[in-house]
Amino acid sequence: MAVVVTGIGELTTNEPGLGTVTDAAVVLEGDRVAWVGRSAEAPVADEWVDVEGRAALPGWVDSHTHLVFAGDRTAEFEARMSGQPYRAGGIATTVEATRAASDAQLAANLRRHVAEAVAQGTTYLETKTGYGLDVEHEARTARIAAGLADEVTFLGAHLVPPGADIESYVDLVCGDMLDAVAPYVQWGDVFCESGAFDEARAERVLLAMADRGLGLRVHGNQLGPGPGVQLAVRRGAASVDHCTHLTDSDVDALVGSATVATLLPACDLSTRQPLAPARRLLDAGATVALASNCNPGSSYTTSMAFCVATAVLQMGMSVGEAVWAATAGGARALRRDIGEGAVGVLRVGARADLHVLDAPSVTHLAYRPGVPLTWAVWRAGERVR
Ligand code: NIG
Repeated sequence: MAVVVTGIGELTTNEPGLGTVTDAAVVLEGDRVAWVGRSAEAPVADEWVDVEGRAALPGWVDSHTHLVFAGDRTAEFEARMSGQPYRAGGIATTVEATRAASDAQLAANLRRHVAEAVAQGTTYLETKTGYGLDVEHEARTARIAAGLADEVTFLGAHLVPPGADIESYVDLVCGDMLDAVAPYVQWGDVFCESGAFDEARAERVLLAMADRGLGLRVHGNQLGPGPGVQLAVRRGAASVDHCTHLTDSDVDALVGSATVATLLPACDLSTRQPLAPARRLLDAGATVALASNCNPGSSYTTSMAFCVATAVLQMGMSVGEAVWAATAGGARALRRDIGEGAVGVLRVGARADLHVLDAPSVTHLAYRPGVPLTWAVWRAGERVR
């Protein structure tokens, strides 16, 4: 069954040969894009949807979320807004609530957040473990995530659980915990930050995950300067996420590397950190992605549109750069930007992920910040909004 979405006033494709197409149409067939071009030349299809001049773009690719959790951290947020600093130790509060929740509660919570994201145009979403922090609960949260998110990352090395010895905990993460989660995950991650895992321990974790065939990601340079970015580049991580505090040599290391700098503006705002230096990274030639980092502690939003608007209004990114970073950039950070079924792009053979805005151009994402502009969403060819 083929659907032609026609009458698109402005179509952002992210495909270099196509660019932005005006008066455009896209044909979705099964879960793939079958055709992209001018409305007047669109082939005949089974179903015809005229979007009457609205703008369309690939669905958001949210490459960084922590959505397998239970509990609430409103009080911690309120304390922070009254001047308390963000501390990684808050993660332990969510660990306690997550361990106490049933599988059904965790799955329902994850489903609810994914649905919330999809309703706002997110069509491809990564999520992580990291609120289990023992073998049983890391494996359980990985299994639950595997059924409900597009990609799953093992983040046993999120925090050393209270009372545990750090060396023994790293042994556990690299041994029994990795064995237990490996069937459910594609990626391995580590929080390399003072108060979490230092460079040597983070590197050990990354080596163990790479040995197991997992792709690598790193949480780095979130709360202060540190070794995370350079470690990620050295170990060939697909992405280093946060990048809030960067030295010139961190930026230099990213430039020319295959490691994407994934910026999390909602997290920077919610933790009252400075905003990540997007302009510096882009001007130097680094690849930048934007993601929500939705989690109950440091960034409780599923809104990629909010991240795009913040990136434009406060981080010096152009609308085009921000939209690319939240679609194709996220896809590159997940290594899903090439080949059949690629996401974050609209070209023949890409996944049929289309986001139509109730606006004439993507500029409205920043021009009308906070306004819910999602008008229609197709995810893998299925109309979900
Ligand atoms: O990406 N940096 C570490 N992990 C999360 C925070 C999780 C939390 O506070 O619960 C983050 O910000």
